[in-house]
Amino acid sequence: MKSYTKSKCIFFHSKLHISPKMRPLTLLYTLLLPVATSAASCRSYCGNLTVDYPFATRPGCGHPAYRNLLFCINDFLLLHVVSGSYRVLNIDYAYKSLTLHDPHMSTCHDILLSSAATGFSLEPSRSPFLSPDPNNAFLLIRCSDESPLFQGFPRQHLPCRNISGLGCEEFLTCPGWASVGRRRVGLKSGPMDCCAVSFESIKSVNLTKLKCEGYSSVYSVAPLKPNGPDDWAYGIRVAYSSEQDDAFCKSCVATGGACGYAERGGDAVEELCLCGSWNSTTNCDSSKFPNTNN
Ligand SMILES: *[C@@H]1O[C@H](CO)[C@@H](O)[C@H](O)[C@H]1NC(C)=O
Ligand SMILES: *[C@@H]1O[C@H](CO)[C@@H](O)[C@H](O)[C@H]1NC(C)=O
Ligand SMILES: *[C@@H]1O[C@H](CO)[C@@H](O)[C@H](O)[C@H]1NC(C)=O
Ligand SMILES: *[C@@H]1O[C@H](CO)[C@@H](O)[C@H](O)[C@H]1NC(C)=O
Repeated sequence: MKSYTKSKCIFFHSKLHISPKMRPLTLLYTLLLPVATSAASCRSYCGNLTVDYPFATRPGCGHPAYRNLLFCINDFLLLHVVSGSYRVLNIDYAYKSLTLHDPHMSTCHDILLSSAATGFSLEPSRSPFLSPDPNNAFLLIRCSDESPLFQGFPRQHLPCRNISGLGCEEFLTCPGWASVGRRRVGLKSGPMDCCAVSFESIKSVNLTKLKCEGYSSVYSVAPLKPNGPDDWAYGIRVAYSSEQDDAFCKSCVATGGACGYAERGGDAVEELCLCGSWNSTTNCDSSKFPNTNN
């Protein structure tokens, strides 16, 4: 670690004073530098977002649990899961969350009843690593009495509740409802205008399966107290967990590597430490000849 910092300083220093005496040194450190700074080789930028571990847009980079998940297309970062593609508006590395936007999602000003809206579902293999935040409220719009949500108790709306103070009572005051109309108060059958649920309670927001005509998603941005539904943050807040004891990646980064993986056929993946000109199954300080070492 010490020699790494030192070599970097000398490199910048020698670049400023290009004396003939320094030239051999410059050459030496230029050759060493790709190894020393390869930690940055998996980081990428998409629009104004930085894509960094555990995510990556390049195959072979990042944590294998998030492979084939994010794609940068025309400066838009897209998240692909089984229910569709969602634009990533933000990645919060400190709080380990992603904020997603779905153009088919309703907001306070636009209540969208559309068969193009699918909701939000994840592949079962993703669920240990990626899941909507427990404080994220899914507001399901116009779910049929026959919806599996109500499990034979269509008039009781048992699963509908407020999630972190976000719920339908307030959402139903939104101006967007004016264009689609509200169900008459007191009507005992027909679709329910709105039912708020957390992702955990239903495991998958599949509008086809739930027999709903639309949805919205809101999350709370504590400690701010929003002034009603017009002020809410609309989007899907998804929490991620790169494996907590990622000792492999810590050790890789500490030796100047970038964390990646290799697919070994089928579902098998192996974590790799990308060391610039070579890959290690441990870290960049280990022998370059794993056959003789392992
Ligand atoms: C990124 O750009 C979008 C507009 O395209 C803007 O709304 C957002 O605040 C920007 N994010 C950051 C972190 O600068
Ligand atoms: C190292 O691994 C990455 C990711 O799997 C791969 O793209 C790259 O070609 C490998 N490099 C070498 C030198 O084998
Ligand atoms: C949603 O449910 C329908 C009907 O059960 C099913 O055909 C479809 O594959 C599901 N979609 C997703 C994204 O899981
Ligand atoms: C949600 O909170 C509102 C007050 O903001 C309350 O009137 C309503 O009964 C609550 N709804 C549910 C389903 O708990």
